[in-house]
Amino acid sequence: MHLISFKELTGQQLEEIIDKAIEVKSNPQKYRTALEGKSLAMIFQKTSTRTRVSFEVAMTQLGGHALYIDWRTTNFALADIYDEVQYLSRNVDCIMARLLRNSDLQVMAKASRVPVINGCDEKYHPSQAVADLMTMKEKKGTLKGAKLVYIGIHNNVCNSLIEGCTRTGVKITTVTPIFNEPSRDEELLENARKTGLWETTLNVKKAVEDADFVYTDTWVDMEFFLDPKFAAEKEKRVKLMMPYQINRELLKKSDAYIMHDMPIHRGYEISADAIESPKSVIYEQSENRLYSAKAIILKLLKKH
Ligand code: CP
Repeated sequence: MHLISFKELTGQQLEEIIDKAIEVKSNPQKYRTALEGKSLAMIFQKTSTRTRVSFEVAMTQLGGHALYIDWRTTNFALADIYDEVQYLSRNVDCIMARLLRNSDLQVMAKASRVPVINGCDEKYHPSQAVADLMTMKEKKGTLKGAKLVYIGIHNNVCNSLIEGCTRTGVKITTVTPIFNEPSRDEELLENARKTGLWETTLNVKKAVEDADFVYTDTWVDMEFFLDPKFAAEKEKRVKLMMPYQINRELLKKSDAYIMHDMPIHRGYEISADAIESPKSVIYEQSENRLYSAKAIILKLLKKH
């Protein structure tokens, strides 16, 4: 089994991973040697703090080992992905990859003899969404009936939230004035529509009124953030998105928990007062990447 998006999982399997993450967090000693002798290859074409740290520490704390592989310093940069993964998967027990293109990840999954985890591509970020749902379950006690409002760009994180929420009974409203076209997945959106749990609106004030959780993400994808060629588009986005910033004023009548997957761009998608609000669970959410990484690996390696 791979984890490229949540298409690979039933709602029940997803909830099992979330519950395992909560259990692993409360009883880390029980899993100290669960992955003794096992190796995880972590391949990065893009930058990362949380995904790299959480998966590497997860493997160490489970008794296994993780290898950080920078795409540019390997022959992945020169050769066919299929052949390189045929080789790699004969040496490790699991692969986690952060790639620019989902189509390359699909090739990896096809070539691999071992489970492949999507560490974030242009379409999906499932390991992030597991940590998000875990955080919501910890706060509310249950996912069914909880209401999440995602405010920002419709992107990879938004897709995985829509997919994860609608599979676990969470009502999700998206307020996304801009759609990142490379992230478009009509099948995912159609499946979400059928559940009746996803709606989309531009009325941000109304959307947050009865929200349990309000969530935002960067307005510019990581690979473009410092790219001078993207500067004009970045400026255009900032202008258009500013009225959708999460801040104290927007949430003045709301009791919602504030979420962000990080890295944060203070003063853009979220204000400093919202980050530091007593209702902010952003740092706990990022800490939960560790426990959710453990739960994902345990599930895929059938060690639970
Ligand atoms: N949220 C997230 O994936 O963080 P990194 O990009 O730092 O890994």
